Amino acid sequence: MCTPKKYLVSTFGCQMNDHDSEVMAGLLEGMGYLPAGEGAEPDIILINTCCVRETAENKVFGLLGRLRRVKEARPETIIGVGGCMVQQYETARRIKLRFPHVDLIFGTHNLPELPRMVRQVAEGRGRVFEVLPEGCEVVENLPRRRVPGLKAWVAIMYGCNNFCTYCIVPHVRGRERSRQPGDILGEVKRLVAEGCREVTLLGQNVNSYGKELAGGYDFAGLLELLEEEVEDLERVRFMTSHPRDFSDRLIKVMAGLNKVCEHIHLPVQAGSTRVLQLMNRGYSREDYLGLVERIKTALPGVSLTTDIIVGFPGETEDDFRQTVDLVQRVGYDSAYTFVYNKRTGTPAAKMDMQVDDQIKSRRIQELIQIQNAIAVNKNQAEEGRALEVLVEGVSKGNEDRYSGRTRTNKLVVFPGCPELVGKTLPVKIIKGTLTHLEGKLGGQ
Ligand code: SAH
Ligand code: SF4
Ligand code: F3S
Repeated sequence: MCTPKKYLVSTFGCQMNDHDSEVMAGLLEGMGYLPAGEGAEPDIILINTCCVRETAENKVFGLLGRLRRVKEARPETIIGVGGCMVQQYETARRIKLRFPHVDLIFGTHNLPELPRMVRQVAEGRGRVFEVLPEGCEVVENLPRRRVPGLKAWVAIMYGCNNFCTYCIVPHVRGRERSRQPGDILGEVKRLVAEGCREVTLLGQNVNSYGKELAGGYDFAGLLELLEEEVEDLERVRFMTSHPRDFSDRLIKVMAGLNKVCEHIHLPVQAGSTRVLQLMNRGYSREDYLGLVERIKTALPGVSLTTDIIVGFPGETEDDFRQTVDLVQRVGYDSAYTFVYNKRTGTPAAKMDMQVDDQIKSRRIQELIQIQNAIAVNKNQAEEGRALEVLVEGVSKGNEDRYSGRTRTNKLVVFPGCPELVGKTLPVKIIKGTLTHLEGKLGGQ
């Protein structure tokens, strides 16, 4: 009897890629492959790539270089590269030319065809290079390998229509396509039946969910559907929200639902209206601040997080000061900060007045310092309070303790025992730090 072949999927980038990697694993398992355990030599290695910034691409190029040795030692190993980087046709061609040991190159829209392409390579029919320019309809019921757990990501839509001028995502992920509410509901119900307690609904812009679906479903309607129809589901989160499309109806619906958590990731990107316009974000500084006020009023105790880019072409010192001021006014619980990075094929890459690297670096350091101080203050403000925590398991790096998240998505570490895992319990916060809260069980 021959031993089953083994696979390894290596993932870069965002949760959308995590999702696609689970589909890749599911498709390979459908072909009889098994996951390669620690130390095992995989028969197929797939790399799921990200191109949102150059650093992400460089990591992939580094890995591809190292895999040359693997191929030399075991020429029968199949090496495949998929994901967003490959969806840029020029990059895909470069990978093909520079890394002859890569057997299979496939775009984000070619995923459903993976088994056929792998078979083609395995049967010795040469290298395969398939990059479809555009996505088709949403393909449901692709097999997926998910590690069962308390929390799961659920994609509700794919692609993006926004074309922010700095961003490559719409170019590599295609136009917005929403899944049918019934398909999403079915998936969430199955997850809950397997023990899942919390789902995070995923999309590049969840607030435009359903726009192209017949039947008039919007994102708020989807939240209501999940609240009403999935009894044992405890928490619902979502990301990412585009501020332009965050409607008053959504705020009102969120305020009336119990399962939807009080945390909104609301990327602002910049604090100056002029820069926001150059970015094609579709809202002004005032629009954003007004939205934040309405959210804070309707959802007391809400935690807000964001993404910010510094050094966008033409960003002046005054524009940057406006970003700093906005960060201080909003009081984010945390922020992902990025230095603007040119992406070939996007309008911003061709804009005049690219900002000097040194200035970018000074600005991001200042912003990080300011945001860190805000985050510490916010976390210290939780000291003495009892917060509801969904216990996830032993704390990483603190193995004598347990950890979980608050509804506001803050990490809490506390002394516990295995029986607590999966339970939602009050934890009294003793200390707030930059990265997490420390506490002890019990509300008193
Ligand atoms: N759809 C989500 C996430 C997009 S990518 C959203 O709209 O928020 C995640 C983040 O990467 C973006 O929010 C942005 O802050 C950052 N980003 C995207 N392109 C970038 C670029 N060219 N340079 C620097 N940061 C970038
Ligand atoms: Fe990129 Fe803007 Fe779409 Fe987000 S909304 S994925 S930043 S184009
Ligand atoms: Fe995500 Fe990176 Fe693609 S952020 S959508 S994996 S470019």
